[in-house]
Amino acid sequence: MKQRVHWLALHGFVRGVASIGARRGDVQARLIADPTIKADPVRFYEEVRARGHLVKSRIGYITADHAIGHELLRSDDFRVLSIGANLPAPLRWLETRTRDDLLHPLRPPSLLAVEPPDHTRYRKTVSSVFTTRAVAELRDGVEQTAATLVDQLSREPGVVDIVDRYCAKLPVSIISDILGVPDADRQRIVEFGELAAPSLDFGLTWPQYRRVQRGIAGFNFWLAQHLQQLRRNPGDDLMSQLIEKSESGSAETYLDESELHAVAGLVLAAGFETTVNLLGNGIRMLLDHPEHLLALRQRPQLWANAIQEILRLESPVQLTARLALNDTEIAGVSVKQGELIVVYVGAANRDPKVFADPNRFDIERDNAGRHLAFSGGRHFCLGAALARAEGEVGLRAVFDRFPDVRAVGAGSRRDTRVLHGWSTLPVALGPARSMATR
Ligand code: HEM
Repeated sequence: MKQRVHWLALHGFVRGVASIGARRGDVQARLIADPTIKADPVRFYEEVRARGHLVKSRIGYITADHAIGHELLRSDDFRVLSIGANLPAPLRWLETRTRDDLLHPLRPPSLLAVEPPDHTRYRKTVSSVFTTRAVAELRDGVEQTAATLVDQLSREPGVVDIVDRYCAKLPVSIISDILGVPDADRQRIVEFGELAAPSLDFGLTWPQYRRVQRGIAGFNFWLAQHLQQLRRNPGDDLMSQLIEKSESGSAETYLDESELHAVAGLVLAAGFETTVNLLGNGIRMLLDHPEHLLALRQRPQLWANAIQEILRLESPVQLTARLALNDTEIAGVSVKQGELIVVYVGAANRDPKVFADPNRFDIERDNAGRHLAFSGGRHFCLGAALARAEGEVGLRAVFDRFPDVRAVGAGSRRDTRVLHGWSTLPVALGPARSMATR
């Protein structure tokens, strides 16, 4: 009963408002209520853009404008959103009283939901172990893991779902190696992640909400045990270092128990929930553009830019949002304290003012890296360098090993609004090139 009331306060109300708003043509309401947008958002990007650079709706503002998104994500007049924070007061009251105390990626103390001074302290703790050097050193590990996975695939020629067999496995293996997750637990983590992926979306149906809660509860329970285990028996992984840092007595990097769980849990979940989509999107886009595959084979130095272009055009995180901290102005528009602005990252990354012929997939585009796919400002993705390395190494490994790989059928999109990727992508691998001839 308590769960049902919580769902009603948090999602049921939003769904109701969105379905009325959508019938009246409200764009943000349509984004929530129209299921076809998730599968094919490109036409909708243009619809939002055509309405103006900052579009007012019943739920707040939405922008498809790159310059506004860029400015907003770096502005001190806005803060990140905590789930439920922008509900009308009576519903906020109800939501607070009926929620469980499980960690949620959009609720404090998650990095994604806090601002300084807490954000500064959490970020400092995690950056002190997740350094640029530590990430650069991980590249060898990514190459080895990718090679092992393509070896396994080469032993089973025929049609495979490349998302299940590869795109989901590579990032979870990498982040698990980094965070000391035992092999035996990895499949469970993927399953929790699959259940909990829509947790970033608003306006969930009751069955979706129940599945998300199951995923979050399972993940919370597993994480508590994992941290306990590492505390008793620390390894040389980054999670053990994070535990040590958080307890080291320095006020700058001290984390209490729930802060430690939130930081560790977010790094783990963000580490694979998004990268799986980068890999799936990239495989699909390159299969649809054999001319790019040929260019990449002839000039492998193009890979790094190709990954930026994939992130730009099929952004794995489509949306983020900020709340105005005070009455302020952005792009000449007055915004009142507490008002919400949604940055439509996927659309901003196709802004024709920044990217010429923006819907064209061009692996040689000279400003592909100006995308907002990793956000900006102090919440800029902590794993951006690792994600790009996984994208490059991971995609290269598949196309080098299986030069004749081709899509079989249409595949299916993930049923999530914020996260954008493939849930299944059947491919015929074709003969594997032997290691010796590579
Ligand atoms: C293609 C892959 C990835 C994409 C597209 C992506 C995207 C993003 C975005 C958009 C944000 C900020 C959201 C906002 O500003 O509201 C973010 C934050 C974050 N990401 Fe990633 N991410 C990816 C991979 C990773 C990986 C591999 C890791 C971990 C190793 C990671 C860890 C984090 C963390 C911890 C934050 C929170 C940062 C903060 O709030 O200070 N991400 N990511």
